[in-house]
Amino acid sequence: MARPTVLTTRADFARACDDSRRSGLTVGLVPTMGALHEGHLSLVHEARKHAGLVAVSIFVNPTQFGPNEDFDRYPRTLDADLDRLGSAADVVFAPPAPVMYPPGDETRVHVGALAAGLCGPFRPQHFEGVCTVVTKLFAVTGPSVAVFGRKDFQQLAILRRIAQDLLMPVTVVGHPIVREGDGLALSSRNAYLSPAERSRALALSKGLSLAWDAYAQGERAPARLAALARGPVQGAVDRIDYVDVVDPVTLQAPSLQVSSPQVPSLHAPQLLVAIACHVGKTRLIDNVVLGEDPRPAPV
Ligand code: PAF
Repeated sequence: MARPTVLTTRADFARACDDSRRSGLTVGLVPTMGALHEGHLSLVHEARKHAGLVAVSIFVNPTQFGPNEDFDRYPRTLDADLDRLGSAADVVFAPPAPVMYPPGDETRVHVGALAAGLCGPFRPQHFEGVCTVVTKLFAVTGPSVAVFGRKDFQQLAILRRIAQDLLMPVTVVGHPIVREGDGLALSSRNAYLSPAERSRALALSKGLSLAWDAYAQGERAPARLAALARGPVQGAVDRIDYVDVVDPVTLQAPSLQVSSPQVPSLHAPQLLVAIACHVGKTRLIDNVVLGEDPRPAPV
């Protein structure tokens, strides 16, 4: 079975990217932490639409995990990942940690207001760690395009912003969430869920779908949409970090919408409904952009 070439040193991987550019192929990068699923594959296929050489990085990045998070038990499945990628990717960059964080490394990419809400307060160093490693990956790869999933909506917004603010010559592309037939958003962390926890986890897409239905019927009030999304979640999960409705661009509270199904607004603003919660020991996130995304769970 075809598999991508695996490179583990910066020099080898940078050379492969340079050689491709020299032969006229642009480079597309899909940064991942491995434990690849169909959602990741959809990112790889998206990258193929934009680039001649498709590179996937697989690196469980220590700096984006908090001290009590799941860094140690995060699934590491390189062999299965390579089989799953098959010929969809051309090259995999799978560096050991000291390649990305050599001894003495101390520089971090500081993130601004986009990290202030949603997951920010619950995972204090997380986005700094993500932005630092992605900046390093961009530096080694020199991609013209990089593809990220919209399940990590805040991460995507922040990465778009750092690419813009740090003048990086890369287009950051967001790709829609991939869901199972019953609505569960694909995530590497779903592997932690017992069958009973998995069925409780369906509350996230159910809650988002209730907000989606209300929005489709004209509801625009963030507090009412958030309450609808929270309904199924609060009975099913062990702890809620947040159920928030925010502006999908600023990630701040949306400007006041006075409309309701009885007094609909003439324009339909997009609203991001985002959930983070814990089912057993697993932290799950999910979201929907009302006015843009399809209904998360089947009716
Ligand atoms: O989304 C992820 O898997 C990670 O946060 C990323 C972007 C690969 C950085 O480690």
